[in-house]
Amino acid sequence: MKTPSPIVIAIDGHAATGKSTQAKKLADHYQWIYIDTGAMYRAVAWVALQRGWIQGDVLDASTLIHHLNDIRLEFKHSSTHATSLWLNGRELQDEIRSMEVSQWVSRIAKIPEVRSYLVAQQQALGAHQDVIMDGRDIGTVVFPKATLKFYFTARPEIRAQRRLEELQVQQPDISFEEVLANVKQRDHLDSTREHAPLKQSEDAVLIDVSEHSIAEIFTQLCGHIDKALN
Ligand code: DC
Repeated sequence: MKTPSPIVIAIDGHAATGKSTQAKKLADHYQWIYIDTGAMYRAVAWVALQRGWIQGDVLDASTLIHHLNDIRLEFKHSSTHATSLWLNGRELQDEIRSMEVSQWVSRIAKIPEVRSYLVAQQQALGAHQDVIMDGRDIGTVVFPKATLKFYFTARPEIRAQRRLEELQVQQPDISFEEVLANVKQRDHLDSTREHAPLKQSEDAVLIDVSEHSIAEIFTQLCGHIDKALN
């Protein structure tokens, strides 16, 4: 008897549209494993900062590429379906969400060797278990045959306000203008890069979160999922 393929739900879209909030809620509801692929790119950026491969405004990309295999990432269960990201045997927390990492991560994510290193791991994670994965290229590159694809968007000002509220916990003096500039810069870098740029897959369902609450979006997503799975 043929084993049914695992379910793969892809959520792509702009930064700070609530992809991970919804993905976690859906993972919990449908008992899938949640994989935050942005955290993997952030972890690589964090390592580059820690090891001194970034000095001032300069990234030593060839040293980073040379040491990629030393960056061992693992998702471990933190509860039944929630996962946390571990780097070389150490659990990563909010350090990968700092402004410094956010400022570098798009430059790290455009390096083809970094992408192929992480994409291979993401494909392996979704090969034998039901997953919900969020990122920028899940429906276009990582799992072009995903069971269902969503593409999230919202106005930049709304996204910057969301990120500001998250960041202010760690950095109380951060300004709205600074966060808005970072959101716009990342949109630009993510959608204009040569390899796997952020774009809506033709078969993805567009979700504009600008005017809706978390609960409303969740209901909308469940409606699409229940229809696709039944
Ligand atoms: O989702 P996030 O903001 O944590 O993602 C961090 C960065 O990583 C984002 O600027 C783009 C990049 N990224 C990517 O290129 N491909 C993915 N699948 C996920 C994230």
